[in-house]
Amino acid sequence: MGYRTAGYRGKLTEFFGAPCVRLQENGLRRNTASSCTGNIKAVEYRMRATRAIIHLENLQYNIAQIRKIIPAGTKMCIPVKADAYGHGALKTAVAAIRAGVSCLAVATVQEGIELREAGIVAPILSLSLPIPEEIPAIVEFELTPLVVDEEFIGDLGAEAHRMRKTVPVHLKIDTGMGRIGCWPDEAIPLAKRIAKEKNLLLEGVATHLSVADSTKPEDIAFTRTQLELFKTACTAIREEGIDPGIVHAANSGAVLLHPDACFDMVRPGILVYGYPPDDCLAERIDIRPVMELETQLVAIKKVRAGSTVSYGRIWHAPEDTWIGTIPVGYADGLNRKLSPGLLVRIGDQEFPIVGRICMDQCMIDLGPDPWVQRWDRVTIFGPSPARTSAKTVADMLETIPYEVTCAINKRVPRVYVGDEYADRKPLK
Ligand SMILES: Cc1ncc(COP(=O)(O)O)c(C=O)c1O
Repeated sequence: MGYRTAGYRGKLTEFFGAPCVRLQENGLRRNTASSCTGNIKAVEYRMRATRAIIHLENLQYNIAQIRKIIPAGTKMCIPVKADAYGHGALKTAVAAIRAGVSCLAVATVQEGIELREAGIVAPILSLSLPIPEEIPAIVEFELTPLVVDEEFIGDLGAEAHRMRKTVPVHLKIDTGMGRIGCWPDEAIPLAKRIAKEKNLLLEGVATHLSVADSTKPEDIAFTRTQLELFKTACTAIREEGIDPGIVHAANSGAVLLHPDACFDMVRPGILVYGYPPDDCLAERIDIRPVMELETQLVAIKKVRAGSTVSYGRIWHAPEDTWIGTIPVGYADGLNRKLSPGLLVRIGDQEFPIVGRICMDQCMIDLGPDPWVQRWDRVTIFGPSPARTSAKTVADMLETIPYEVTCAINKRVPRVYVGDEYADRKPLK
């Protein structure tokens, strides 16, 4: 592993107080800036017809829009877990830090290690529970885990002591999500247990809201109950003479619907990536999708009426028509269920995907007299809310945009545009 920081955040108690002060070159370790700014040649060589264009200007716009609606001075922690919801964790993290975000959140220790190894020095919260074998890496790579039980607190404290480091931890309280977290009445004993560990620092207290994006009265009432339980637990910790540190609860839904859930820090994810967590909240904030999935027409050929296209012969040409092939398939994250139904766009015209989506390719019906040409760009979903977006695709699949962008996997190169550290200008 070999990662050693020269105490990149100095006194641990300071790093949230002045989160970016210690960041060199906007959150990058000085000697690794080039690995974060990207090597343009390498990006070009990784190029293939199918790519996800990541509009960092939209990401930064969304962060600014969120900042406008949260109380002044509230810190922002941006989840870059699951490769930043499919957008690419490293470049997203750098763009977010450059937009003033003070903290990042990952789901796995490995995700945190990758950011550290790439040069990110900003605080990294690890939101899911690790297994005991991951504890040394948490300490070594200076991640900030959520803690929920005595066993883990003890093991982490011992490892921190062995490595002679102080590890900041956030106590996670389960107020109704039913996932991870201690029960509210366990918060005081656990806060005391953390305080006893010389090499641990209770830096924050958190909870997670399960229906914060819903406007149904019963869901609003449930969120209010969660928030009351959480506030009571934080107050009780304070009354024991223990500083709970950074108090945080708000995901995207809470940022939009429950302003009093913002506390000291918010953790909005999907809003940053340009989608409201629920349709009913779309009017509450002006945000722009960040990911655009595009490809190119690699082949065009004429087929006779009655011919069939793709596996299973489920599509028959109704007339003589031209079929275009695009090199994107379910192995890239384009769900098979999107055919029939999904329309892709070339210029201003939309064309249907026909026949089964294959692992690496699929076909589109260009009609009997197409104006399009081989190598034309084909947009599968884009950043314009008025056109097909990840939300349209999600609706077709009866899922949520989160799953659509996360599904676009590593075989699809990400091309970053719209920020000084981007790879290059958008393709036109
Ligand atoms: C603990 C936690 N906080 C915040 C978020 C961000 O949620 P959202 O993307 O809905 O804002 C997530 C997402 O899954 C999460 O698990």
